[in-house]
Amino acid sequence: MKYNFDQLAVRESFGNMKHIETPATVMERDGITFCGAEMDFPTAPVVIEALTKRAKNGLYGYTLADQKYTDSIISWMRRRRNWEIQKEWIVPTNGTLHAIGSCIKAFSNEQDGVIIQPPVYMLYERVITTNNRTIAVNQLRYEQGLYCIDFEQLEELMSVPSNKIMIICNPHNPVSKVWNDVDLSRIVQLAIKYDVMLISDEIFAEIVFKGNETTPLLKIEHARDISVVLTSIGKSFNFTGFSHANAIISSDRIREKFLAQRRIDHYGSMNPFIRDAIIAAYDEGEAWFDEMLQYVSKNIEYVEQFFRNHFPDVTVSPIEGTYLAWINWNNLLLNNEQLESFLLEEAALDLDQGWHFGMGGSGFTRINLATPHEQLVKALARLKLTRS
Ligand SMILES: Cc1ncc(COP(=O)(O)O)c(C=O)c1O
Repeated sequence: MKYNFDQLAVRESFGNMKHIETPATVMERDGITFCGAEMDFPTAPVVIEALTKRAKNGLYGYTLADQKYTDSIISWMRRRRNWEIQKEWIVPTNGTLHAIGSCIKAFSNEQDGVIIQPPVYMLYERVITTNNRTIAVNQLRYEQGLYCIDFEQLEELMSVPSNKIMIICNPHNPVSKVWNDVDLSRIVQLAIKYDVMLISDEIFAEIVFKGNETTPLLKIEHARDISVVLTSIGKSFNFTGFSHANAIISSDRIREKFLAQRRIDHYGSMNPFIRDAIIAAYDEGEAWFDEMLQYVSKNIEYVEQFFRNHFPDVTVSPIEGTYLAWINWNNLLLNNEQLESFLLEEAALDLDQGWHFGMGGSGFTRINLATPHEQLVKALARLKLTRS
């Protein structure tokens, strides 16, 4: 491999959230936390170079999404996602959640419902409730270790006139499922039938494995007049601390409304560092990105094999997308508190607890696999010791 993913990025003394929140039990045993969807190795060297160049330039003034910026995004989407987008469709925002908040405000009224599909990224709940909207829950179905959408229940929820928006998470954090064209088309058909707007959070879109591809929602027939797609280099290039996302909106009507809300929400200048990082990542970061996927694949295989061999009663959901493994411990018959304390106290394993992701999350944990292989091996070896 040309790039080094074996090295942990230095987190100490940088105010890094994962570092600050690592429990003492884990630190004392020379471990790392596996919470949070953030890579443990540094981003692509080309991104670091672009940021260094900008830092040295000393010009941090107001910045625009210029031609170079939009060309980079257009070209990446064409190459990586087989998706033709137009320059006018690209709307930079202050972050994925921020953009979801703007959509919620622009396209619904207080008390209206927003449909989410737990177990799912926990902060959707916060952005809905803090905007005084109601959560409409379409819990995913879990059958023989696999997840699918409960379309009957979804239709019921969509048919309620006050449910105005649905958030799709594709690939779906934390269950690591990529919704395919059939799933997406069914969602679009229902949304058109019941006049529901769709927000597709595609922050993990490019992080896919085993031949999976994330279809941009806007490529689904008839989706263009009801959808907003959110993209970012946050997950793909380990860049989440620089709050940013590009909303891709092909409908003029939706884009104009969204832009008006973005103004109300005080979107100011494009952050000059974000501009340069996105251009570098998309134009020159592909080789790093491909190697990163290969490296994470090795971790995925390792985790799947580890549980098969040593904890056959614990199952790992197939990882189609994201770099997160979703692990089902329910056969151990522990409650959430017991599970957390078993993992933390006995194995110094700090994992995201499944119940944080809402309904259907109890008895599961999520583990970050964008980490140096050796860290994973060490952590799972501690877990194995609990069996002896
Ligand atoms: C699925 C998903 N969407 C959005 C976010 C947050 O994105 P942002 O920091 O751009 O708001 C995360 C962060 O973990 C995530 O997992």
